[in-house]
Amino acid sequence: MQRIALLTSGGDSPGMNACIRAVVRKAIYHGLEVIGIKRGYNGFIEADMVPMNLGSVADIIHRGGTILHTARSEQFMTPGGRAKAFENVKRFGIQGIVVIGGDGSFRGACVFNREYGIPVIGVPGTIDNDIPGTDQTIGFDTAVNTAVEAISKIRDTATSHERTFIIEVMGRHFGYIALAAGLAGGAESILVPECPFNYDEVCERLLRGYRRGKLHSIIVVAEGTASAIEVGRMIKERTGFDTKVTILGHLQRGGMPSAADLILASRMGARAVDLLMAGETKKMVGIKAGELVAVDIESALSQARSFDHELCNLAITLSI
Ligand code: F6P
Repeated sequence: MQRIALLTSGGDSPGMNACIRAVVRKAIYHGLEVIGIKRGYNGFIEADMVPMNLGSVADIIHRGGTILHTARSEQFMTPGGRAKAFENVKRFGIQGIVVIGGDGSFRGACVFNREYGIPVIGVPGTIDNDIPGTDQTIGFDTAVNTAVEAISKIRDTATSHERTFIIEVMGRHFGYIALAAGLAGGAESILVPECPFNYDEVCERLLRGYRRGKLHSIIVVAEGTASAIEVGRMIKERTGFDTKVTILGHLQRGGMPSAADLILASRMGARAVDLLMAGETKKMVGIKAGELVAVDIESALSQARSFDHELCNLAITLSI
């Protein structure tokens, strides 16, 4: 193997740059050439690619976002788009691809591999932590830290004004960010898609707190559960509490990555190069109990991501 390419795809996540750096530097260390593909699979189709050298990844490790830019490519979902991408694989002499992204990006990589045989290795980069086959994805830790910082700031004003705050966090269809941030942020209730909730229970919990003198509360809602605005409206209607809603939104995707994400991204990026060099394909680098693993992407994605119900129960117990 002489020349590999890498791209970032889907929603960006803090630590993607550190991962790019690791892929480029590890590959160059082993004498490989590296091509950076811009704007996810779109850059593949449009031949928007740049040769990467040691200097191309200097001074990026600490930056959020991705220097390669990212996109959710609709064109790559079509056979015609993938055919164009393969033309560029041949034209640029690419012999293996590292895809840093989420499940949609990996599915695209697998289809491309099936159609054209080009080796692909996935590195899980998404704040949602929703990829089966790995305990953690790059960016999750930073996003949770960002959310916890926001919750703590909101708690200050919630206390002063004796208000109930509904804080909506990202996570797409899953509640991993909400659970981790809610537990770490001491939320009174955490609403996640994985666990059904009812308003009677949420309000009873609030009223119980109120009866013992608690005048402010924080409720963390995962975006995939319910609209925070609707939750706020229902709670206000049922309890009469002064209720405010904050949607954290895309600020959870930015910022300097946490040390944990920087280390994870560096380890995973380097391992992706090892896997390509070892002749592996359709594998995703994961982390299980602290150890890097290589898992078959298709079998990983066919499984359901497990949810930590124990952690969820702990959050409920501690916010009694
Ligand atoms: O997958 C990452 C994520 O931030 C999700 O948490 C969120 O639902 C989605 O992307 C938002 O996507 P976009 O940036 O396209 O609005």
